[in-house]
Amino acid sequence: MRPLLLCASLLALSAAPALAQGRRRTAAQPSAPRRRPASRVVPARTTPAPEVPEFESECPLRDGVFADAFQCDRYYECRDYVITEKLCPDGLVFNDISPTLGRCDQVFSVNCTGREELQEAQPTGDCPRQNGYYADPDPTNCGTFIHCVDGVSNRVECPSGLVFSLQMGTCQWPDQAGRTGCSSAEVLAFECPGAGDPRLAGAPADLPLHPRYADPADCQFFFSCLDGVVPRRHGCEQGRVFNDETKQCDKPENVPECNY
Ligand SMILES: *[C@@H]1O[C@H](CO)[C@@H](O)[C@H](O)[C@H]1NC(C)=O
Repeated sequence: MRPLLLCASLLALSAAPALAQGRRRTAAQPSAPRRRPASRVVPARTTPAPEVPEFESECPLRDGVFADAFQCDRYYECRDYVITEKLCPDGLVFNDISPTLGRCDQVFSVNCTGREELQEAQPTGDCPRQNGYYADPDPTNCGTFIHCVDGVSNRVECPSGLVFSLQMGTCQWPDQAGRTGCSSAEVLAFECPGAGDPRLAGAPADLPLHPRYADPADCQFFFSCLDGVVPRRHGCEQGRVFNDETKQCDKPENVPECNY
């Protein structure tokens, strides 16, 4: 962690390498005039000061926001060549879209490669940081996540059969989320028959690419097996149940074995 009690001029100096990187992105634009703060270089004068003082700014542009080169949640704001160091709210990171559109954003929307440092986390309750989306503290709760806003947590359930993805920060199919302990087999308690599907033995060409199977636990649901092997659980729309004969969602009266 960088000390917090740096004086303003040191802050400006520490900004220099960051902005050197930020400048690369704006290389196509005309470079900002290099000026020098009057207080730094102009000695006390007896003669009247020039109308436009010599002035140097660390700002690559007169106005805009610029990413820090090392710390993903730190950025710099320039207003009329005056630079101010800023920190995103804990848990958010700076999205370096452009000098005008840059903003603090969810970590899943930003590539922090090369500037991985972050401010010290301020955890409260279930929130490891004040803002963001986090897996349930209990890793066996694959389909639950914690949404934190200013330190206030909200527990959210993924739609049935989905798993919170640590990479994407959203609910995804278990095979896409790829979390250990949260595989399709573990979450869905269902294994695709694969080569064990009797239809495969009889007429392989007839087997659909993603064959469907009834969910033995709930006839409103069914599994489709991606490429015959990876199960995904789907629900029929409200008021319909899965017909294992037709492999479609159907009216309950056509599926008497389901006590809907
Ligand atoms: C993130 O940025 C790095 C460096 O600029 C790049 O190599 C990498 O491919 C990017 N990753 C993603 C997911 O875009």
